[in-house]
Amino acid sequence: MSQVYEKLMNAYRCYQEQVDFQPRIGLVLGSGLGTFAREVEVKATLPYSRIEGFPVSTAPGHAGQFVFGYLEDVPIVLMQGRIHFYEGYDITDVVLPERLMGLMGARVLFLTNAAGGFGDGFHPGMLMMITDHISCFVPNPLVGQNIGELGTRFPDMSNVYDLELQEIIRQTAAREKIELKEGIYAQLTGPSFETPAEIRMLKSLGASACGMSTVVEAIAANHMNMRICGISCITNMAAGFSRQKQTQEEVQETADRVGEVFCRLVRESILAIDRELR
Ligand code: HPA
Repeated sequence: MSQVYEKLMNAYRCYQEQVDFQPRIGLVLGSGLGTFAREVEVKATLPYSRIEGFPVSTAPGHAGQFVFGYLEDVPIVLMQGRIHFYEGYDITDVVLPERLMGLMGARVLFLTNAAGGFGDGFHPGMLMMITDHISCFVPNPLVGQNIGELGTRFPDMSNVYDLELQEIIRQTAAREKIELKEGIYAQLTGPSFETPAEIRMLKSLGASACGMSTVVEAIAANHMNMRICGISCITNMAAGFSRQKQTQEEVQETADRVGEVFCRLVRESILAIDRELR
């Protein structure tokens, strides 16, 4: 057994020993969705510190636990606090939580994040559904011995963000009268923000937003055949697209301001997705 798989299995055993709840959907809470747990009838929590070998998040504003419960009648697991590569963890540790949610039974992985925007017509505070991603600037979490129990050596990546889920989110946004942009998200390692030249490069590659998470998580979940969707909260204009400097304070401030609308879109989308897929 590979070390990565062994660690995952240990984490899975910790979950099984401590939590009697099987989620259908996994939701990674990015900045702006910190209060999402209020929407959920909580049945159990599992702090990351109580999972053997689990990386413990050090990012500001991230609590560091799984929350299990019902969103109306949908059994869901929330990640309050994700693991970022810039925290210094091995890339396989960064995606361990998503793999674990897959093992718990989540068939859908709903990814959210805060991102710097540079798409045409973008402004801080808007929401962008991720239609595709660029992963070339971060390590691939599947490098190393393939975990055959999870998926194939060379996974197809032509539809990472499930087309049916995209359509449900699109229709949900329209029904809720929430403006929703669409675009390609590029992940960089961080923790430094990008230079204007880097952002011009990303734009010339077709991206509309960038951040320091999400893509590696989507790669690992796609490897396991989970159905994936994602929404970015554009918290700031990226370097060169704003006279302001990029700061964590602005990211948090915008995320907090948009939080209520973001929560509503995610909540209604999840309910619609579960209705559709059941
Ligand atoms: N760059 C990278 N990551 C981010 C940004 C940004 O401008 N905003 C929020 N996360």
